[in-house]
Amino acid sequence: MGTRRPRMIAALAVVSLAAACSQGDGGDGGGAGYPEQNITIVVPFSAGGPTDTVTRMIADPMAKELGGKIVVQNVEGAGGTVAAGEVAQAEPDGYTVLMHHIGMATAPALYKDLGYQPLEDFATIGLVTEVPMTVVARPGFPPATLADLTTYVKANQDKVTLANAGRGAASHLCGLLFQSAAGVKLQEVPYQGTGPALTDLVGGQVDFMCDQTTNTSGQITAGKVKAYAVTTPERVGSLPDVPTTTEAGMPQLQVSVWHGLYAPAGTPPEIVQRLSGALQKALADQAVIDQMAELGTAPVAAGDATPDAHRAQLEEQTQTWAKVIADAGVQAS
Ligand code: MLT
Repeated sequence: MGTRRPRMIAALAVVSLAAACSQGDGGDGGGAGYPEQNITIVVPFSAGGPTDTVTRMIADPMAKELGGKIVVQNVEGAGGTVAAGEVAQAEPDGYTVLMHHIGMATAPALYKDLGYQPLEDFATIGLVTEVPMTVVARPGFPPATLADLTTYVKANQDKVTLANAGRGAASHLCGLLFQSAAGVKLQEVPYQGTGPALTDLVGGQVDFMCDQTTNTSGQITAGKVKAYAVTTPERVGSLPDVPTTTEAGMPQLQVSVWHGLYAPAGTPPEIVQRLSGALQKALADQAVIDQMAELGTAPVAAGDATPDAHRAQLEEQTQTWAKVIADAGVQAS
């Protein structure tokens, strides 16, 4: 490990062990012999949440393709910015990579002292998936529909609690859009990820939140939470009975959560290409496609699981969200 290797604090979980020996990359420089040790994918939110779920889906098939072992490590805190800051400082050798989502594009506008620049301090590897969100509430929460929810929160602004995974998390952004559309300012309850937030929602400790279908589908289907709407233009295949926000009367609430894989800037391009190729292979794996479909999402097209497509998305989204966040007047630090 080099000196830039990050201090990793959360529990490790070995998710895959490929039997094959290292495949190398044809001896063309930076990627020759790669991988020679475990690759760590850092997840910036809690284990068991949506980012973690997507990462663990692709870790095994990626490891198989690379001929190595992938370890998933959860480094929570500050809406995903603690993990991103650590990976930005990691040795750029292809052994530490980051799975992150839309938060990579929103953090520069939200955090005054971010300590890293997503477009400068990372090499993009490829997009992974784009996940719809759901607006969900604890069992027993009085409103029955999204329209009822709007009326209810207006009348109970001082009492209603809205969970999220910290400033810049997808749940935070969706919650901001909801509050803006409803014309309310609610008491927000931040967690280290929506994994634990959903547990508290099911347990009745918080009232409602936005969360990705990769986390909520099981609980919605099992009737453990109330689902008001999905935040995409079309209904979600795995949740056919849940209306869209447009159908439910709040067309302004549109957000889906794109995810991508990043390496620290300076990682040899041959290694970035190896990782991207392995990602594309993983996303074409039928088991991955099926698991994602069950959770309301799908892999991106192969052409989007590339460094260039991912960079273009990050650039465009960074600009888009800078304006939304400036208009909303939100700051995290
Ligand atoms: C998570 O993995 O916990 C989520 O992606 C959090 C969020 O962004 O809302």
